[in-house]
Amino acid sequence: MRFFNRQKTEIIELNTERLLLRQWSNEDLEDMARINADPEVMKYYPKLLSRQESNAAVEKFKSLISKNGWGFWAVESTRDRSFIGLVGLHKPTYKLPFGPCVEIGWRLARSSWGQGYATEAGRECLNFAFAQLELSEVFAFTSVANMKSRAVMERLDMENIQANFDHPTVPHNSPLREHVVYKIDSQNWRSNRVLVTGQAESGEYR
Ligand SMILES: CC(C)(COP(=O)(O)OP(=O)(O)OC[C@H]1O[C@@H](n2cnc3c(N)ncnc32)[C@H](O)[C@@H]1OP(=O)(O)O)[C@@H](O)C(=O)NCCC(=O)NCCS
Repeated sequence: MRFFNRQKTEIIELNTERLLLRQWSNEDLEDMARINADPEVMKYYPKLLSRQESNAAVEKFKSLISKNGWGFWAVESTRDRSFIGLVGLHKPTYKLPFGPCVEIGWRLARSSWGQGYATEAGRECLNFAFAQLELSEVFAFTSVANMKSRAVMERLDMENIQANFDHPTVPHNSPLREHVVYKIDSQNWRSNRVLVTGQAESGEYR
């Protein structure tokens, strides 16, 4: 599904088997604030977010999607239209040793873990990043100890590039500061797609 905003930017929505990745709405604010205030979800972030901070973050995601057409999308289940969190692509604004770059990221409500949703949504984001945005590579990074997020990266065939770094926005004395970096490039994405589907789609991936 695609639509245009007033500035004629095409707002991208992505569909997967079980999920819709879409622009944010005001109805998502309360649910996202609950996610951002859950200590288990936020275990690998420097702090929990207040309702105000969470709303400001959503406003930022929303305005970037309005401007660029893509970003960190709101994710809902197509079964019952419930909001489950965020997954998407983002250009970090702070300095990174491997930047500037586009990263892929995810944050789901605890009740939506363990069902393959992050991987399913992440895979469609990578398809979009390489087939539509024609990016040459996509990065992902997280605190070294965040094994659940690293497992999503690995399921998406992203590779640990052995370039750990200290995240510039995490306090110096925090055990969360050291981050691990994963990457997938368009070549790998193309060859993995050929392996998964057994053939190149319309010959376009060979
Ligand atoms: C990172 C995060 C999104 C991962 O969630 P997750 O549920 O572990 O990952 P997925 O959605 O890909 O689900 C995979 C799990 O679902 C299981 N699963 C169940 N049904 C499945 C299905 N139909 N298809 C695929 N996997 C399925 C898999 O076996 C796997 O379980 P396991 O972890 O026991 O091996 C989640 O932990 C989170 O939101 N964390 C907090 C935010 C965060 O740290 N974000 C990253 C910061 S960079």
